[in-house]
Amino acid sequence: MVPIRPQKKIWLDGKLVPWDQAKVHVLTHGLHYGFGIFEGIRCHGTDKGPAIFRLEEHLDRFLNSAKTYRMHLPFSKKELTEATLDLVRSNGVTDAYIRPIAFSGYGEMGLDPTRSPVQVAIALWEWGAYLGQEGVEKGVRATVSSWVRNDARSLPPQAKCTANYANSALAKMEALAGGYDEAILLNSVGMVAEGPGENVFRVRDKILSTPPASSGILRGITRDTVIQLAKERGIEFQRTDFTREELFTADELFYTGTAAGITPIREVDRRAVGDGHYPVTRQVQRLYDEVIYGRSPKHLSWLTFVS
Ligand SMILES: Cc1ncc(COP(=O)(O)O)c(C=O)c1O
Repeated sequence: MVPIRPQKKIWLDGKLVPWDQAKVHVLTHGLHYGFGIFEGIRCHGTDKGPAIFRLEEHLDRFLNSAKTYRMHLPFSKKELTEATLDLVRSNGVTDAYIRPIAFSGYGEMGLDPTRSPVQVAIALWEWGAYLGQEGVEKGVRATVSSWVRNDARSLPPQAKCTANYANSALAKMEALAGGYDEAILLNSVGMVAEGPGENVFRVRDKILSTPPASSGILRGITRDTVIQLAKERGIEFQRTDFTREELFTADELFYTGTAAGITPIREVDRRAVGDGHYPVTRQVQRLYDEVIYGRSPKHLSWLTFVS
C-alpha cells in the first residue's frame, strides 16, 4: 500500500481549503452510521492537458446515490462540476484520482440522518492502478469470497454508499489474508456479482460477458465504457449471470473500475485462467487507454478538459 501524498487543496462545503485544514468533528454522524455517498473519478494527462473521464456520468451517479438516501445536497451538479475543475486546477495535477463525498455531518446522534447537516467534500490524490501496475500487466490472483455481496434488499447496490464498503473491506481483507490480490463476491443466490470495488468480465469462446445490474452490482462506468467499446469493435457481448464454476472455465477474466482500470485476473482460487494469454482483455485495455488519454477522436465527448 502506498500512503496518500498530501496535495495542496481540498474542496470542502463550497470552499477550497488547505489540505491539512479539511477536517470534521469526531461526532460526525456519517462516521458512526455509515451514512455517506461517494464517487471515484479519474483525471488523465492528454495532449490537450488534464481531462476528467466521464465526469458527467460520475456526478449523475453521485446525485442518484444522494436521492436514494434522501440526502439533500446543498450544491447543484453545475456547482459540483465547477468545484471539481477548480480543484484539479488549484492542485496543479495531471493524473489524479478524484473523490467527491457527501455525508451526514455534525449535528444530532441517533439513526435519523436527516437531523444532521449534509457536508460535501471533493479531494484528489495521485493514485496508480489500484491493483498495481504489475497486476495490469501480468494479471492478479483472485479468490471467491466467503462474504456474500450486500443483498439489494438490504443496501441498494447502485447507490455508492460508504456503508456498502464494510462488506467490500471484509472480502478484501479475507482475500489478502489468504494470499490473494483481490476477491470476487457472489450474490445471495450464488451467482457472480463483482469485486469489492470492481466489476467482473468473462470471456469464453470469444464472447465477452458481465453480470447484469439485476445481479446486485454497482453499474460501473468503466463497465459501461467497456460494453460500448466492445460493441463498436464487433466483439460479441452478453449481459449474463455466471456461476463460480464458470469463473474456473473462463478463457479470460478481468476486473474493471475507475481505480483498477482494466486488470486481468490470471488465477481464481489457484486455478489458472485460460492459457495465460488474454487477447480480448489486451484489446479492451488498449481501447480503454486510447479513450481515457484522449487518443480516440470518436470518444472525446467523454472527456472534460480542465483548462
Ligand atoms: C462495488 C463496486 N463495483 C464496481 C465498481 C466500478 O465502478 P466504476 O467503473 O464506475 O468505477 C466500483 C467502483 O466504483 C465499486 O465500488
